[in-house]
Amino acid sequence: MNGSPYDFTNNWFESLAKVVWELFIPQINPTRILEIGSYEGASTCYLIKKLADSKDIELHCVDTWQGGVEHQEGGGGETDMSAVEKRFHHNTKTAISEVKNAIQLVIHKEHSDVALSKLIAEGKQNYFDFIYVDGSHQAPDVLCDAILSFRLLKIDGVIAFDDYLWQEKLPYGTDPIRCPKFAIDAFTNIYCRKIKVISAPLYQLYIQKISE
Ligand SMILES: C[S@@+](CC[C@H](N)C(=O)[O-])C[C@H]1O[C@@H](n2cnc3c(N)ncnc32)[C@H](O)[C@@H]1O
Repeated sequence: MNGSPYDFTNNWFESLAKVVWELFIPQINPTRILEIGSYEGASTCYLIKKLADSKDIELHCVDTWQGGVEHQEGGGGETDMSAVEKRFHHNTKTAISEVKNAIQLVIHKEHSDVALSKLIAEGKQNYFDFIYVDGSHQAPDVLCDAILSFRLLKIDGVIAFDDYLWQEKLPYGTDPIRCPKFAIDAFTNIYCRKIKVISAPLYQLYIQKISE
């Protein structure tokens, strides 16, 4: 842990997302947040620490803690996802202890299609200010996350898609159906009258909802 109270085993968030979030998160200043894909809680802890020093926030985290295919196949072997889940609980508890305001942390340990459908069934359409899509990287799953997230997002709310340009290294090259990009492109094309794409460095893609 190197003297830090946090226990993270990778720097995905630090190296790829944080620099853009430093700019956008204070501008969006979300109060109701939905995160699809929490892993060890790096992005979750960032949101808690950045926002909950000045106000109460409601943060919903959706994760199976079973990993995506990139955690299950190849890539240096299988990840121990129960240890990942324990680190998520440790890290979020630590972040919550370091901020002044109340965090309503709601954990949905299930597949995102089920969790998001339940949120819609509970009446949370047009509810969230910010949705972070960083769960499955398989195009059919990302498309489902995008469409259900749009329903859950308020007008003027923002969806951040992580890994827009991520590609799985396969022996035969890359497979576009096993990457998020095709799905995000399909969503932004079909919803082009209801969203606007926000200008940002392209590893992540940010959209804002402009109409129902
Ligand atoms: C890239 S990690 C998330 C990283 C995290 N946002 C961070 O900043 O460190 C992706 C996570 O999505 C979860 N996941 C993959 N497919 C999922 C699905 N269909 N539904 C819910 N969670 C899923 C995995 O268990 C994994 O923890």
